[in-house]
Amino acid sequence: MRVQVAIIGAGPSGLLLGALLHKAGVDAVIVEQRSADYVLGRIRAGVLEKVTVDLLQEAGVADRLLAEGLVHDGIELSFGGARHRIDFEALTGKHVTVYGQTEVTRDLMHAREAACLQTIYEAADVAPHGFDGTHPTVTYRKDGVAHTIACDFIAGCDGYHGISRASVPPASLKTYERIYPFGWLGVLSDTPPVSPELIYSNHERGFALCSMRSMTRSRYYVQCSLDDKVEAWSDDAFWDELRRRLDRAAAETLVTGPSIEKSIAPLGSFVAEPMRFGRLLLAGDAAHRVPPTGAKGLNLATADVGYLARALAEHYAERSDAGLDTYSQRCLRRIWRAERFSWWFTGLMHRFPETGEFGRKMQAAELDYLVNSTAASTALAENYVGLPLEG
Ligand code: FAD
Ligand code: DHB
Repeated sequence: MRVQVAIIGAGPSGLLLGALLHKAGVDAVIVEQRSADYVLGRIRAGVLEKVTVDLLQEAGVADRLLAEGLVHDGIELSFGGARHRIDFEALTGKHVTVYGQTEVTRDLMHAREAACLQTIYEAADVAPHGFDGTHPTVTYRKDGVAHTIACDFIAGCDGYHGISRASVPPASLKTYERIYPFGWLGVLSDTPPVSPELIYSNHERGFALCSMRSMTRSRYYVQCSLDDKVEAWSDDAFWDELRRRLDRAAAETLVTGPSIEKSIAPLGSFVAEPMRFGRLLLAGDAAHRVPPTGAKGLNLATADVGYLARALAEHYAERSDAGLDTYSQRCLRRIWRAERFSWWFTGLMHRFPETGEFGRKMQAAELDYLVNSTAASTALAENYVGLPLEG
């Protein structure tokens, strides 16, 4: 097989890149190690910035998102037994859209199928080769048969544990990492959300987040220990813990029910520089990870893909490599800003056992400042709603 771009990974990055390249008349194939159902079974992000909504619209896959996505003009911060609203619309004139990553992925998969674009699922031993030269290839096995895809470029959209970044010689890569000493236990349930807007709660028992997927489906998280096992958390234990970490009004309003998904995610910050190695370009979680507090992971991934799709389209349509040459630098500026915001918001909202009572007092003072200073609230709102794509 020969294509212009071989994409490794059918998560949101790979699927969106495939859709944008198709619009630009660039032919691409996607190779994914899992099945489509497995990819759709992963419950992850839920908050979309304008940049993500715009790119999905550009790719022609935003009809359901625009009809069903929930526009949120603000969030609430809960601490000291009370809630304080951060009004995005008043502070920045912008909003975010609540629509699950699973649904974004489903819409992209359907559009791909409808356009008869090829995705090879359940591909084993996927590997990129020759990207430092002019004739890269991607090899894989499917049903025991070996295959080779010849291409001009390889897009590494295969997430944090993927093969793309792992195939780059270590000397060509600089990585930056921070692991947090706790995780998030998440529950999805067919119950109405406790409140119309997201609640981020700083509580002495640990962080909690109330989010949603629709007016009948809720997504909740509580900070948990890295030693916690999901099987050891009954639904009742989860609801009790969540209730304890909310203000009284929210705790009394909370509607509980059976969980339809429950999982634990570790929290980490990670950046690999650069994001281009000859004809291999990394995008999304393959190149970086943020703790989920700032809701940036998915939005950073789509922004990378926005730059990458434009750069590849320019390469073919205008014979210009300007976009490819500046790809890494443009993405990394945005990535480091999101890393800083996610690190700061994580530090402000979670319980860090090692910082003790002094650390708790510092958090309380900063939260007090945050909700009483227009400048500080505006900075939070600006970072949360996100930046437009430059250029
Ligand atoms: P991924 O979604 O990881 O997709 C990569 C794809 O590549 C996968 O389908 C994978 O199966 C495939 N792949 C991997 N290795 C190979 C290989 N060798 N060959 C072929 N295919 C391969 N962000 C938020 O904003 N809020 C959240 O609450 C949140 N929760 C998260 C929970 C978890 C457990 C994780 C891991 C991430 C979470 N994120 C969250 C981050 C967000 O979901 C990611 O930033 C987003 O999924 C990135 O998309 P991606 O397409 O780059 O990578
Ligand atoms: C969700 C996840 C996040 O990490 C976040 O900051 C907000 C919402 C969610 O899954 O809905």
